This record gives sequence, C-alpha cells and structure tokens, in this order.
Amino acid sequence: MRIQIIGFGVIGQGLARVLLRKEEELRQRYGLEVSVVSITDISGTAHAEEGLDLRKALSVARETGAIVNYPGAKEMSGVEAIEEIEAELVVEATPSNIKTGEPGLSHMLAGFKAGKHVVTSNKGPLALKYRQLVSEAERNNVEFRFEASVGGAMPVINLARETLSGDRITAIEGILNGTTNYILSRMTREGLSFEHVLREAQELGYAETDPTYDIEGIDTASKLVILANAIMGIDATFSDVKIRGITRITPEAIRLAKERGYVIKLIGEVKNSHLEVSPRLVPETHPLNVDGALNVAMLHCDVAGEVTVVGKGAGAIETQSAILSDIIAIWKKVKG
Ligand code: HSE
Repeated sequence: MRIQIIGFGVIGQGLARVLLRKEEELRQRYGLEVSVVSITDISGTAHAEEGLDLRKALSVARETGAIVNYPGAKEMSGVEAIEEIEAELVVEATPSNIKTGEPGLSHMLAGFKAGKHVVTSNKGPLALKYRQLVSEAERNNVEFRFEASVGGAMPVINLARETLSGDRITAIEGILNGTTNYILSRMTREGLSFEHVLREAQELGYAETDPTYDIEGIDTASKLVILANAIMGIDATFSDVKIRGITRITPEAIRLAKERGYVIKLIGEVKNSHLEVSPRLVPETHPLNVDGALNVAMLHCDVAGEVTVVGKGAGAIETQSAILSDIIAIWKKVKG
C-alpha cells in the first residue's frame, strides 16, 4: 500500500520509525507492504515512486529540520502532494489547530476528493467539522479513521465502535490529555512547580505545538467532541464544550486535596448531550486516578455496564499503535 505522510513532526517521524521497525512483521502477519511514497512538512515534499528511504528522511529531518533537504525534494505543499502523487492512503499528522482546523482540514478533504483513505491523529479538523469530514469520506467511498486523535495509544474509538458495537454508550468520562495528567501527577507526588513540569512534558514530546491547548483544556475538549460524535452519535462541535483548564491549580490546592484522600485531575465528561472539561477532585482509589502521562476513559454502556480503558495518551512511538491499527484495518478491508 502506498502511503503519503503529511506532517513530519513528532507523530510523522514516529510513524517512519515504527514502519522501519515493523516492516517485516507487517508483511508476515498481514501481507501488508507499506511504501511511503511522499513526506511533506512545512518546507516541502520529498517524493519517490518506488518509496522513500525512511532512514534518510529521518536523518534529514533531524539534522536540518526541513524535509525539502531530502535529495530531489520540492517546494510542494501538502494539498499539491495529495493531488499530484499517486497513493492509496494519506496519514495526516500536522499540528492540531482548533480555530480553523487548517492545514489538516484541507489535507483531509483533498485526500477524500482524490479517492484516498485518510488516517489521522489531528484533532482540530474533527472537533470542528466532524460531520462534514465523515460525509465527504462516505461520498468519495474511502475509509476515514482517527483512533490516534483521542488518547494516543489508548484504544477507545475502535473499541467502542467495533468491540462494543452491541452496546449504546450513554456517557463517557476520562482523562484525555497526557500533558496535564503528567503535570498534575508530578506536582502531586513531588510538589514541583507548574512551569517546571510543563517544560518536561514538552521535552518528552507530550505537549501540543502550542502547549496552551493542553493546559487550558482545549485539547481535552477537542477529544471529547470527537468521542461524542464518533461513539455516542451526538452532533457536537468544539464551541459546545464548557471548558476550564488547569492553569489556576496551585500546589496548595493539590496538597489540601491529597490530605483528604483526593487527587485533582482534568476530567472530560459527556453526559446527557452536555460536554464539559474541568479540574475535578477524584478519590485516590477511583479508577480514573491514573498517573503520569496516562489517559483513561470510562465508558458507561447500556449492556456491559462500565468499561474502563487506560493507556499512554501521548508520545511519538506509542501513538503509532493507533495509527498502525487504523492502517491495518483499512488494509484488511480493501485488500480484497
Ligand atoms: N498533547 C496531547 C496530550 C497529545 O498531552 O495528550 C496527544 O493528543
């Protein structure tokens, strides 16, 4: 299967690394041969019909920070690359933008129009234009999967839609942002300052390109909107979410909560069509009390009761678990 990677930051590069590592395994287990025919970042597009040398692409990105320095690369935009280069699937991994959804939105729409399947980790376009994206994919008869957009490696969308397909999900609550959970956990355990731990989360590749998305609850809200649409069939968009982030949580508040047997967590909840993100007191023994950069989602199901999943919510490599599972699901469906 020929793949185009659009966006070559933490997630795009992580995909290249995992594809290198899993090349043989994907062939043996699924008969899937992935050929990355183009990689685009803000500087341009590297393209090779026979497949790019991913090791070289990674070293060019690491050493120069611009894929246009790959031999023969051109100053070609993502949309042009999608329109002009032959491939079956686009992985859209540009930074999330919650104001316009761009450039991811245009990449996804261009992918559908070009008859290409799209796999994405990009939350902004989904949180703003979920219905439009899903209906454009259907209209063009292509697959559109976005497990990586919520919870990184924590399986939740495909779990609810596929494994729990006989259930109706009546409510969801969870920690959907690794950065804030990392910050709150370290502040709780070690009494460290907010700024210090945020810097660490950025260095570890957890934080968004603009970290205010994390700490102000915007990232959690985007994911909540995606879950409400994808799992519960609620036609919600980003502006429907009531949002409060963690910027006003002090070490003192955390200490007081701890003395009473609680932790403070940034919780996203969708219930009775109401979507809310806010810091909440969670009993230390509650299943939502997960540590570090972990994410957790508790699905309230009409048959199964409560189903809780925990997993790494961010990270260059971990997120590839979701991207790979979507690529493999598409491959299984289309290979005939
Ligand atoms: N910044 C996000 C987080 C990355 O911290 O959870 C994964 O969406």
